[in-house]
Amino acid sequence: MRLPTLKWTGDALELLDQTLLPNEVVIRRCVAVADVYDAIKRLVVRGAPALGVAAGYGILLSLRAESEMRPAEMRQVVEDAAAHLASCRPTAVNVAWAVGRMVAAARAAPDAELEARLTAEARAIEAEDREANRRLGAHGAALLRDGDAVLTHCNAGALATADYGTALGVIYAAGEQGKRITVYADETRPLLQGARLTAWELLQSGVPVTVLCDDMAASVMAAGKVACVLVGADRIAANGDAANKVGTMAVAVLARYFRVPFYVAAPTSTLDTNVASGRDIPIEERDAEEVAAWGGVRTVPVGAAVYNPAFDVTPANLIDAFITEEGIARPPFETSLAALRRGRGGG
Ligand code: MRU
Repeated sequence: MRLPTLKWTGDALELLDQTLLPNEVVIRRCVAVADVYDAIKRLVVRGAPALGVAAGYGILLSLRAESEMRPAEMRQVVEDAAAHLASCRPTAVNVAWAVGRMVAAARAAPDAELEARLTAEARAIEAEDREANRRLGAHGAALLRDGDAVLTHCNAGALATADYGTALGVIYAAGEQGKRITVYADETRPLLQGARLTAWELLQSGVPVTVLCDDMAASVMAAGKVACVLVGADRIAANGDAANKVGTMAVAVLARYFRVPFYVAAPTSTLDTNVASGRDIPIEERDAEEVAAWGGVRTVPVGAAVYNPAFDVTPANLIDAFITEEGIARPPFETSLAALRRGRGGG
């Protein structure tokens, strides 16, 4: 049994602290929206779909902070909390998408049902993510053959979602069909989501995994060891440009050079048709210390500048297909992604 990434208890959001894995398994209890904001900022919870689910529950907790609010005040608290949470990690569109749903639910709810409707909406966001990942996995598994080795970057697994995962969900689904899949996991500097999290959760599920330093991906592809690359996404523009963990673009460039198919697995909640291309996707820059030190030990001399963008944008022309819960999209992505989005009822 996998440990849940997140769990709503009715009065708190419990999070498996991903900053401490794989060495310690600690559950953090968030009882106020400020706790959720802090957990998102510090990557206690991370991965675009999981961030969206956590933000939904964060909005619920914003209402617990004050007692005896009138409905108009409650709606204002919800809107303020939504803006605050959406600013926390700007690249992952799932946060803005989820808090947008919560704000819309607050506006539409009759006064007497405000809290009940918001609770139902937050639960629905979580339930829909669980279901989307299962469906996405089933679609994607068709692309894998028995014996394939898959290279992945960062963590797009159960830890990055309400359950099951996107890129890793495809691998779990293929395994459930009896296909023996093995994984090469890029360690994913600077915060090692691949080494710490992907390897941990794959081992828990019995999937053989080999961890690589990021700069070793070329050599495994050159040796013909990789059948395809499978990654997640934090935001997909209307033209198919896809933001994901920094380093993903380099993997895509290598995959094209070595003629290895490059697939992006993401729920349709990660599509952002408000941005035409990757140029319009905001890229989160994180603290220089994440690059300059590891485990409290400085690895960069004082005085050297540090660049720490958390994400990069893989151009659509390097992506062979998107795997979503509504099906698989192939180029040209403007039309194929729009059709999948309509399938979700997104217009
Ligand atoms: O900074 P992180 O760990 O939140 O980055 C996560 C990723 O880049 C994932 O690949 C992406 O969110 C997809 S998760 C299904």
